[in-house]
Amino acid sequence: MPHALKNLSVLVSAGPTQERIDPVRFISNRSSGKQGFEIARAAEEAGAKVTLVSGPVNLKSPAGIERVNVHTAEEMKSEVMSRIDKCDVFFAVAAVTDFRPRKLLEQKLKRPTDLAQSELTIQLQTTDDIVQAVTAKHDRPYVVGFAAETNDVLKNARDKLMRKNLDVIVVNDVSDPTIGFEGDENQVTVVFPGSELELEKQSKYKIAQQVVELVANALPRSL
Ligand code: C5P
Repeated sequence: MPHALKNLSVLVSAGPTQERIDPVRFISNRSSGKQGFEIARAAEEAGAKVTLVSGPVNLKSPAGIERVNVHTAEEMKSEVMSRIDKCDVFFAVAAVTDFRPRKLLEQKLKRPTDLAQSELTIQLQTTDDIVQAVTAKHDRPYVVGFAAETNDVLKNARDKLMRKNLDVIVVNDVSDPTIGFEGDENQVTVVFPGSELELEKQSKYKIAQQVVELVANALPRSL
């Protein structure tokens, strides 16, 4: 395990993204970034040169890695794509916000004083799918997706594995409040095209170590 990723370049995306509505408000999600940071740490400990592209989180960087901070999905895509050609393995752990306001308001939106105007519509547009932009490339790295599901967990994971053309997907059931998102523990199933492995509930660091080891064993010999 200590040298499982020796001489390889690993890119990790982590955390949520924030999509601004006005100067003080944004749309985001509950991702803490913990699982992505632990993947970066485990990959570094396995001998890889690691770059972590992180959305806004409250975490210290693991030792020995390069960290790039971003806010929006667009920034995350640009930082990932500018490094992707030099990377051997991409772990897409980020919970990229799926929608952003169509327009960024330059001034703070005022609360309406008139009750008749108590409803507000903000037009949203979808953000780009970063991992799909990576897997669409001709000379692509080995790509590990992550998914948080609330229902039909394995079916949705297998669908995403195929649709996003991933090499493997790590899925957790976020309908269980004791795992995923903000917590320190996680329980995941690692889904390869022809097989799947359920890992027991344990710390996000131990999950990361096992995922890194499984990925290292699955890498093509050419790497
Ligand atoms: O959000 P979803 O469940 O589709 O995410 C599955 C995978 O796709 C994750 O690996 C996530 O990092 C990636 N993703 C992405 N860009 C998006 C949405 C998701 O890279 N805009």
